[in-house]
Amino acid sequence: MGFKEQIDINRLPEHIAIIMDGNGRWAKNQGKFRVFGHESGVLSVKDIVEGCVDIGIKYLTVYAFSTENWNRPVEEVNALMELLIATINQEAETLNKNNVRLNAIGDLNSLPEKCIQDLANVMEITKNNSRCTLTLALSYSAKWEIVAAAKKLVKLAVENKLSADEITEEIFAAQLTTTNIPDPELMIRTSGEHRISNFLLWQMAYTELYFTETLWPDFRREHLFEAIVDYQKRERRFGKISEQLN
Ligand code: IPE
Ligand code: IPE
Ligand code: MG
Repeated sequence: MGFKEQIDINRLPEHIAIIMDGNGRWAKNQGKFRVFGHESGVLSVKDIVEGCVDIGIKYLTVYAFSTENWNRPVEEVNALMELLIATINQEAETLNKNNVRLNAIGDLNSLPEKCIQDLANVMEITKNNSRCTLTLALSYSAKWEIVAAAKKLVKLAVENKLSADEITEEIFAAQLTTTNIPDPELMIRTSGEHRISNFLLWQMAYTELYFTETLWPDFRREHLFEAIVDYQKRERRFGKISEQLN
C-alpha cells in the first residue's frame, strides 16, 4: 500500500510548512553547479503543490529564500532571483488551473523590482482561488517578522489605538505576516539538517517537526504523503496528559 492510501483524509493537517533544503548538495553530488540544484528544486515545488491540491491541504508555506541567504555569493543570489521571476510567471496559469492562490511573506521590498512586480501580478491573478494557499517565504526571517510586529504595536500604542495591557497573543499574531493563515501543524525539513534556520518561530510553537535525509530536488509527493502518515501517528498533547485527550 502506498503512503497516500494510508492517509486519514479526515485528520489532515490544514497547514504544512517546508524548509526546502539540499539543492546545492544535490547538484554537487552530480558534479554540477549549485544553480542546477535550485532549478531541479522547482520541479519538486510543483509536484508538492499538486500533491497538496490532490489530497486537500489548505495551506502550504515554503521557505524559498531567507534573510540570511542574502549573504551567499552574489552570483547565486542573482541566479535564485532570476529563477524565482521565471518560475512565478511560468506557473501562473497552472496555479489558476489548480485553484491555488499565491501569497508571499517576508521583507518583499528588499527583492529586485521585477520580482516584486511579477509577484504582485500573480498574487492578483490568483487571489480568488480557494483550493490551496501557497505562501512563498522570500527574504523572510522569523526574527525580522517578530521585530516588525513589535514596531507596528508600538506605533498603534503611540497613536493611542492600543494599550500595553490590551496586547494578547491574538493581537500580536495579527501583526505577523501570516495573519489569516493558521499555524502549521506539520513542518518538514529536507536534507538531514535538524534546525529551524529562522523560519516561522512564533507560528511553530506547537508544530510537529519532521526531518528527512532526502534532498529537496529528490522530494516528491510520495515523500510528502509519508510525512503526513508519520504526523498522523503522533499524539498531540498540548501540555495535557494522554488520558485527557478526546
Ligand atoms: C535550499 O538549498 C535552497 C535555498 C536555501 C535557497 P541550499 O541551497 O541551501 O542547498 P544546500 O543546503 O547548500 O545543499
Ligand atoms: C534555510 O536553508 C533557508 C531556505 C531553505 C530558504 P539554508 O540552507 O539557508 O539554512 P542553513 O544555513 O543550513 O541553516
Ligand atoms: Mg541549505
